[in-house]
Amino acid sequence: MQPSHTFRNSSKPADLIQSVMDDERTTTITWQDGHTSLFHNVWLRDNCSCDECGDHSGGARFYELRDIPPNVSHSPSIANGRLMLEWAHDGHKTEYDPSWLRAHDYSSAEARTERRHQPKTWTAAEMQGNVPSIDYVKAQDDDAERLKLHDAVRTHGICMVTNVPAKIEATEELAGMFGFVRETHYGRIFEIKSTPNPTIIANAPVPLRPHTDENFREPPPGIMIFHTIQASEDRGGVSVMTDGFKIAEDLKKEDPAAYELLSNVPIPHRRFIEGVGLRAEHPILTHDYFGQLSQFRLNERTMGPIDVAPELMEQTYAAVTKILEMTYDPKYHMHHLLESGQALLFDNARVMHARTGFNGNRHVRLTHIGSDEFYSRWRQLRNKLHGDINLI
Ligand SMILES: [Fe+2]
Repeated sequence: MQPSHTFRNSSKPADLIQSVMDDERTTTITWQDGHTSLFHNVWLRDNCSCDECGDHSGGARFYELRDIPPNVSHSPSIANGRLMLEWAHDGHKTEYDPSWLRAHDYSSAEARTERRHQPKTWTAAEMQGNVPSIDYVKAQDDDAERLKLHDAVRTHGICMVTNVPAKIEATEELAGMFGFVRETHYGRIFEIKSTPNPTIIANAPVPLRPHTDENFREPPPGIMIFHTIQASEDRGGVSVMTDGFKIAEDLKKEDPAAYELLSNVPIPHRRFIEGVGLRAEHPILTHDYFGQLSQFRLNERTMGPIDVAPELMEQTYAAVTKILEMTYDPKYHMHHLLESGQALLFDNARVMHARTGFNGNRHVRLTHIGSDEFYSRWRQLRNKLHGDINLI
């Protein structure tokens, strides 16, 4: 059977098989760089990527797990650098690209940890003057420029876009480069302008404290986009950005018990205004299955009544107060005045935003796109430009 996809050819010693050994249930590969990887036979059979069994590159598997007999075994060989297995129970043949196998080595805890992306956290001093930036005009037809933004948001949680036309129609064009606009009761775009008697605080010219947006949604907005049509004439309305992951990292060192509590007790956020009844309850710090911090949700203005066991209530208030105080600490606040024609993209699961007050005619357009679509575009670009094969 031929694989249904093309892998890049690699000649790195890490991707060259030196020898293969099998015993009853497992297969051990020794690589030319001396590393060994152990794969279970059931896993190898499951990951056959021939046309009949599945398609690694498309992410579809046709073979049914119940068809793999217990103690499934094979005869191994190496041909043209590729691992070939002939399965004993049905004579089916599987061929594996060595770089795919190496990229999916699960037998070393180190390799498994390496595969998890580690965001680079920052304080204000570290980010001030160093905000990653791309050029909108260049990004129109330059994949590498767009990938630069994706990579920056993935690693630092934030990226600026310059040279965006300060025109209404450019907001959705910009968003469309990186995903699909997610519509809410505000519509597709929220206009941030100073308006008389505003019902939403964003439309009063007052300073706003650091927060992540709309924690009462499931999920909250993913990648936020501020597109400035007009900066305030008085140079107010400065964006104040804070890395929530950095705060969490510092809290973990300073007060591990508070960190633990905020990772476990649910804190409700809610919004009940005309036509809207949104509510969600999650810990401020959410971790993924691998124990890595994945979502930071906090907005003092929209927090609801905390519902935890009585013996935890005072500790919970102390921990929430502690993390709020940290978010209000200027050492985490990176300031940037968005000029007309500039946009800021940031990960609302991580980076808090705030702003200073203003007295001019400031007009910023806010929209957001789902993280899933944003990272879908990122994987496509990584694959197209760098041949990354281990992202699916
Ligand atoms: Fe906000």
